[in-house]
Amino acid sequence: MNRFRFLAIAALVGWCSAFAALGAQGGGAAPAEDQQARGKTLYVDKCASCHQESLKGTTETPPLTGDTFWGNWETYSANNLVEQIRTTMPEDNPGSLMRQEVVDIVAYVLKFNEVPFDGDLPMDADALKKVSIKKK
Ligand code: HEC
Repeated sequence: MNRFRFLAIAALVGWCSAFAALGAQGGGAAPAEDQQARGKTLYVDKCASCHQESLKGTTETPPLTGDTFWGNWETYSANNLVEQIRTTMPEDNPGSLMRQEVVDIVAYVLKFNEVPFDGDLPMDADALKKVSIKKK
């Protein structure tokens, strides 16, 4: 009986660590989706009150998608967009976001507009300059 209990517990512990290992692997498998998800949460919290959750803006606030977005941003780089947002937005509290937060928001905005880029958007300005805002 005791021996059986020991084996049952050993099996249970084995299962748990196998699941823990799987969980850890799964968590690290999709960093780009994580960044865009963080960016979306931040966008909804800090930007959507003016630019709308649809990114379509209002009569007072420009859209961050569609013809206006492409007209203003096509041929620029992710770095230009990061710098613009970092220094002027949110309009009611500019400069309040950390650089990482702005980069995450830009990853979300670019993905929303189907701008092609691989993996996570980098923090580094020179690397960001290499990501051009272009149509898919
Ligand atoms: C209080 C309202 C408000 C909030 C909050 C706000 N914005 Fe804006 N945003 C504006 C207005 C108004 C403009 C147009 C005037 C300007 O460029 O300063 C603008 C302009 C912009 C532009 C330039 C658009 C273009 O094509 O010229 C970007 C990019 C932008 N906002 C991004 C953001 C992001 C990202 C956030 C969240 C971190 C944010 N904004 C939060 C009101 C807001």
